[in-house]
Amino acid sequence: MKKKGSSKGVRIAIVGSGYVGLVSGICFAEIGHSVICVDNNKEKIKKLKKGLMPIYEPGLDKLLKKNMKNGRLKFSDSVKKAVPVSDAIFIAVNTPPRPDGSCDLQYVEAVSREVALSMNGYKVIVEKSTVPASTGQKIKQTVKIYNKKNLPFDVVSNPEFLREGKAIGDFLKPDRIVIGVESKKAEELMHRIYAPVKAPLIVTNTETSELIKHASNSFLATKISFINAVANIAERVGADIKDISLAMGLDKRIGGRFLDAGIGFGGSCFPKDVLAFIHMAHEEGIDFKLLKEVYGINESQRMTVIDKLKDIVWNIEGKKIAVWGLAFKPDTDDLRNAPAIDIVRELLKFNAQVCVYDPVAMDGFKKILGKEKNLKYAQAMTAVKGADALMLLTEWEEFSKADMKKVKSLMRVPALIDGRNLYDPAKMKKLGFLYRGVGRV
Ligand code: UDX
Ligand code: UDX
Repeated sequence: MKKKGSSKGVRIAIVGSGYVGLVSGICFAEIGHSVICVDNNKEKIKKLKKGLMPIYEPGLDKLLKKNMKNGRLKFSDSVKKAVPVSDAIFIAVNTPPRPDGSCDLQYVEAVSREVALSMNGYKVIVEKSTVPASTGQKIKQTVKIYNKKNLPFDVVSNPEFLREGKAIGDFLKPDRIVIGVESKKAEELMHRIYAPVKAPLIVTNTETSELIKHASNSFLATKISFINAVANIAERVGADIKDISLAMGLDKRIGGRFLDAGIGFGGSCFPKDVLAFIHMAHEEGIDFKLLKEVYGINESQRMTVIDKLKDIVWNIEGKKIAVWGLAFKPDTDDLRNAPAIDIVRELLKFNAQVCVYDPVAMDGFKKILGKEKNLKYAQAMTAVKGADALMLLTEWEEFSKADMKKVKSLMRVPALIDGRNLYDPAKMKKLGFLYRGVGRV
């Protein structure tokens, strides 16, 4: 762990203004740097230049406007224009999974090439996207090839640990900052960039830094699959997973976070990162069986709510099912790998009449599922009218505050499948619900 340096503003370009790039860019401006957020999606950049947010992330729109106003935050669709006026270039483009589970790094390569062609002096090129170990070396090789004038540069790994919905807090008050560097000069610049953020700074080589990200996300995913596996046993023997998680978590060696049982992990990171780590290990001749099991448990976990539903309503065909929550977690509109997509598809396969509601993710859901005659969109209370069951799939705060007495009175059959253990089973049963949670009776 090293001490951080002085905090003089650094000129930063962020290439890729998505969930990670945009949060990082806006937060870098917030801590005093001059930032240009770049994206090859011209529409996105046009919107951002007008101060309009392309994603839903609590608090980000306020910081966007504030930092545009003070002149520290700019937007561009051109890497060519941004690189010459920047000292550090962060690559934050998407790294989607290929069918075999490996990371598709074509965008990282394309950006590395563009950066190399636009250099006008020493640059620090930072990989922010989640990438397999040794990608740093590949970026270095690519920049060397296309950097015809042989200008000096360094490649740094600086993984993101931003949870959607809590990304600003995670950026400004992180548990730690990890940087993988190969030169003192690059290390000093990274120290300057992160100087205003109070957190331990771990300095390693690039490969270690890349692996820290894979290991961290895969470990958190393991915690979730572990507790879900225990939940499935708990509900069979009459134990309560909430109490089990609480008691386990109070042991400081275990820690209570990421021990919430439910319908499993989704999102753009955990499923992809676990697969990528399995694939990477395989390439090195190692069969990472533990992670294969973590992934497998997660795949089947989301479908356990269908069995619970059948348990109460018997046949799903023709039943009216209300679904509350579509996003992969609360406080985001992100639907990537959202368990709700698979669950709603399964309900439609059974010819159920499905009516869904989510505070912010309905438009995105419409784009994914398209027009389905048995799929309707409505506000929360309208969705439950005449329903044979309500399935809670994302634990948005508004659902915990909902008038459940009213909900019950609106439903035809008060079956409540709580995929996130949001409600108190005893209270729900007292209200007259036929309640099923995860890992509790
Ligand atoms: C990020 C990471 O970078 C990924 O590795 C991590 O595992 C998950 O989070 P994310 O920010 O969620 O990805 O991706 P996305 O919201 O899709 O944003 C990527 C942006 O990069 C998009 O706006 C896209 O238009 C842009 N892009 C992509 C470019 O600007 N240039 C390209 O060549 C490709
Ligand atoms: C994750 C990492 O946490 C973050 O550091 C960064 O690397 C990006 O990926 P994110 O995917 O935004 O963040 O959300 P996170 O809060 O980690 O949740 C991931 C998934 O796990 C969600 O679907 C959530 O519902 C699920 N989850 C989380 C559980 O099922 N149980 C838990 O106890 C915690």
